[in-house]
Amino acid sequence: MKENTAAINEILRIFGDKPRTAYVRSFGCQLNVSDGEKIKGLLHELGYTFTDSENEADLIILNTCAVRESAEDRVFGIVGSMKKLKEQRPSLMIGVAGCMTAQSHIAEKIKRSYPQVDFVLGTSAISALPELMLECLRGARFSADISEYDDFSEETIQIRESTFKASVPIMFGCNNFCTYCIVPYVRGRERSRRMADIVAEVEGLVRNGYKEIMLLGQNVNSYGNDLGGDVSFPKLLRSLNEIEGDFWIRFMSSHPKDASRELIDAIFECDKVAKHLHLPVQSGSDDVLRRMNRRYTVEKYLETVGYIRSRDPEFSLTTDLIVGFPNETDEDFAATLDLIKKVRYDNIYSFIYSKRSGTKAADMEDNTSDEVKSRRMRELLETQRSVSTEWYKRFIGRKMRVLVDGEAKKRKGCLTGKSSEFIIVEFEGDNSLIGQFVEVEIIETMNWAVAGRLTKEN
Ligand code: SAM
Ligand code: SF4
Ligand code: F3S
Repeated sequence: MKENTAAINEILRIFGDKPRTAYVRSFGCQLNVSDGEKIKGLLHELGYTFTDSENEADLIILNTCAVRESAEDRVFGIVGSMKKLKEQRPSLMIGVAGCMTAQSHIAEKIKRSYPQVDFVLGTSAISALPELMLECLRGARFSADISEYDDFSEETIQIRESTFKASVPIMFGCNNFCTYCIVPYVRGRERSRRMADIVAEVEGLVRNGYKEIMLLGQNVNSYGNDLGGDVSFPKLLRSLNEIEGDFWIRFMSSHPKDASRELIDAIFECDKVAKHLHLPVQSGSDDVLRRMNRRYTVEKYLETVGYIRSRDPEFSLTTDLIVGFPNETDEDFAATLDLIKKVRYDNIYSFIYSKRSGTKAADMEDNTSDEVKSRRMRELLETQRSVSTEWYKRFIGRKMRVLVDGEAKKRKGCLTGKSSEFIIVEFEGDNSLIGQFVEVEIIETMNWAVAGRLTKEN
């Protein structure tokens, strides 16, 4: 971590009592959202309050994602539109943080083509934020810090987005180098947090009333590999399960090549661990999996699923899928549809392959047209829709424990929440139940959700 006390004190001195407001927007995965919460924690130390409107802010920070080209284009669009804001209010400070900036060609492009941006902050340099802001306050045209020294300042207090659901990163980076993926290049190698720090953080969150703890890592199954000693992800789960209180533990993501029986046993044996596993398969074709460098076969994946379902035939699984990986054939794609039907996922997160410069797949030949990729995507979603419509019927008549998230968007007077199985559940209820556990008896299924009647308030 970078020593930043002097910069913090100097900024506090410069601003004095002057009120200051920041707009921090995070894109991408939950790890990035968690980084956004750390950025907010630092800004809180600097005396900032927060707004949801960029027009009211003296400081704007965009915490970006680089996983697909569309995500980057969106950020460039937003940064472009901020030129006007800066012209109207030259004292406005604009910073770009997150995974995009960890690519030097992007940091260069921002410096060259977007003069409205004051500073660029890399994913491993969050603690350098006060220094960059200070340089800016002292008149620098542009500052950047994309070095690697800080993953998690255990001291930084995060300003969390929710009062009942908390994300807790347990490790950073990724060693897997799937050939399509930019993450290892923008997040560096795997580094695990100390188990004692994680346990202490979760204890504190539970004491403060948090009901759901989401443990985050690009591959939580390799947690502890870099720490040495008797540390592993299943052991971490078992330790967290010992913490007293009424709360759920979830985690994301779990690489299928490392999803061991020990992990699955821990899920079944720990009462606080939610009964759901996100197991990203990416493709149902062995040839595509090999070219993706995923290091498992469909057979091995199905063996893992088989073990889970031997313990609970109705266990809930979700996955990530990529459509249109370079030269994916009709047969490859048909194998993916087959796998979806075989596994019977409750939900899938599917993406059309996006070429990321610097990755191995970016150099692979790709003769599949965009039109074919879009058609395959539609077919994939349609197949999953019919799988979940049928598969969700197993919940009818069941009483499910649900953590209430908020008001349902489409059904007036209804609340929405998620069950332990990670199923969206809607039911009629009072807003006072938001953030609480309730019990709902399931009456009907809808697309991507189930609905029922409130039977017990906790
Ligand atoms: N570490 C997680 C894992 O291996 O399951 C995945 C993290 S990644 C941020 C989330 C998902 O984005 C991946 O599972 C993959 O489906 C998708 N993804 C990553 N790179 C992609 C690319 N270049 N094009 C399309 N989808 C991509
Ligand atoms: Fe990307 Fe693969 Fe690492 Fe997941 S495991 S972050 S898909 S390289
Ligand atoms: Fe996450 Fe996007 Fe970075 S998915 S790790 S924010 S590239």
